[in-house]
Amino acid sequence: MIPSTLKTLLLLSFALILYLLLHVPPPYLPQSLLSTPHEAAPLPTSSHHLLFSIASSAGSLGRRAPYLRLWSNSARAILFLDSPPPPDPSFAALPPIVLSGDTSRFPYTFRRGLPSAVRVARIIKEAVDRNESDIRWFVFGDDDTVFFVDNLVRTLSKYDHDQWFYIGSSSESYEQNESNSFDMAFGGGGFALSHSLARALAGVFDSCLMRYPHLFGSDARIFSCLAELGVGLTHEPGFHQVDIRGNLFGMLSAHPLSPLVSLHHLDSVDPIFPNRNRTQALEHLFEAVNIDPARILQQTICYDRLSSLTISVAWGFSIQVFEGNLLLPDLLPLQRTFTPWRRGRNISLSRYMFNTREYPKDPCKRPVVFFLQSVGSNHDGVWSNYTRHAVGNCGQTGAIKNLEQIRVLSQKLELNIEQMKAPRRQCCSIFPQFNKSMVLSIRQCGVDELISMHL
Ligand SMILES: *[C@@H]1O[C@H](CO)[C@@H](O)[C@H](O)[C@H]1NC(C)=O
Ligand SMILES: *[C@@H]1O[C@H](CO)[C@@H](O)[C@H](O)[C@H]1NC(C)=O
Ligand SMILES: *[C@@H]1O[C@H](CO)[C@@H](O)[C@H](O)[C@H]1NC(C)=O
Ligand SMILES: *[C@@H]1O[C@H](CO)[C@@H](O)[C@H](O)[C@H]1NC(C)=O
Ligand SMILES: *[C@@H]1O[C@H](CO)[C@@H](O)[C@H](O)[C@H]1NC(C)=O
Ligand SMILES: *[C@@H]1O[C@H](CO)[C@@H](O)[C@H](O)[C@H]1NC(C)=O
Repeated sequence: MIPSTLKTLLLLSFALILYLLLHVPPPYLPQSLLSTPHEAAPLPTSSHHLLFSIASSAGSLGRRAPYLRLWSNSARAILFLDSPPPPDPSFAALPPIVLSGDTSRFPYTFRRGLPSAVRVARIIKEAVDRNESDIRWFVFGDDDTVFFVDNLVRTLSKYDHDQWFYIGSSSESYEQNESNSFDMAFGGGGFALSHSLARALAGVFDSCLMRYPHLFGSDARIFSCLAELGVGLTHEPGFHQVDIRGNLFGMLSAHPLSPLVSLHHLDSVDPIFPNRNRTQALEHLFEAVNIDPARILQQTICYDRLSSLTISVAWGFSIQVFEGNLLLPDLLPLQRTFTPWRRGRNISLSRYMFNTREYPKDPCKRPVVFFLQSVGSNHDGVWSNYTRHAVGNCGQTGAIKNLEQIRVLSQKLELNIEQMKAPRRQCCSIFPQFNKSMVLSIRQCGVDELISMHL
């Protein structure tokens, strides 16, 4: 055992070295690189430049208000409803409510579908026709879409809002393409149109809508009219339609290497943290989001050679400790903790738009899982603490037998546009000598550093 004063000293000096190593450039490029020399330098895109138009209804608003409250207070947002909502004093804290225009003149012929799809699609035109000033991006989503506004701002900053861009992501479910397309942005995951494209689309939308009465959803109508304008989808993997059910753990613990932008269908999945209801669990995630939004769910792998452990961190959410030396590429596929969107499908036959791997049925064959307990920041950087989630009595031995808590030190992730365009996973170090409590430090990797166990 190292005496605790020495331990503290080691920790502090390590933190200082890290701070110096991690010093990252300011979040935005010099303006000279972003504009032609003759133009006045434009301000960087901020949340004020995004107008969120959210499809809701008098019937669903009460149920979805807790989701909207999580993110919309930091955003410029409008709720589009079918009819006036029932009186509820708590709605006062929500974004302004606008009633959608009458769409009964547009045909809808999809059998057993919802004709409200036309109203929801036409929100695009109604949002643009409000002539609001200073909008670079029109963003669309449902009332059960949770946006991570800072991350969306950063993501959209990579693109020129004066060009035509249609940005979003497809469904997780391969089967969902049967009635749709791999190149359609699924509406619930949210999508963004550059202001120039949104204005062009709004101008032709009503005439285009008349050609697509046979489609199911609003997003398919928008996709079709954009296709007629000659525009294709720019995929951004941070948007999540969440066309899966049950336990999202496998999805949230192996997020792609881009910022988390949205989560949808949160009514159809289990609470994302144990022992909390859905709202409380999301509020808990937002404690981490509010401290370091860009790092939320970002996956980092640490190796402890001495104890022969592989540790996978999904920052702000969970840590998994595996016994032995697991190769990094084998930790990137999503563990199948969830079930397919279409109920009744044979789970082992359903296919996804990403690689998956098995999640053992026997809890004792699974990694030991730790969930976020608390997060805060001080002069060292950001501390996040994770506590062990006990399932069953697996009689573990060895290094992880007594491990109860993992603390993670990191620096706030501030990526500039060039770093956003070419993201790189970060590295991780383990402080030696752990018993009940382990300390990890997440840092930028060395130039040619490999994320593997150094044998
Ligand atoms: C927006 O501008 C157009 C064209 O100038 C105008 O016809 C329309 O009435 C304006 N809409 C609103 C809501 O001000
Ligand atoms: C969608 O997937 C189904 C199989 O589930 C396949 O038969 C069909 O060709 C696919 N459609 C497109 C547009 O890729
Ligand atoms: C979740 O728990 C909180 C606090 O106990 C409670 O106020 C809220 O109504 C619960 N939400 C749901 C959807 O059960
Ligand atoms: C699901 O499909 C797999 C592979 O074809 C098969 O082995 C299994 O029996 C099926 N399960 C059910 C419940 O039909
Ligand atoms: C994490 O845990 C340590 C020790 O248990 C504690 O000192 C620290 O305040 C905790 N940090 C946060 C952010 O909760
Ligand atoms: C580790 O913690 C356990 C449980 O508190 C304790 O019994 C054991 O002596 C500790 N081991 C070391 C090396 O400190």
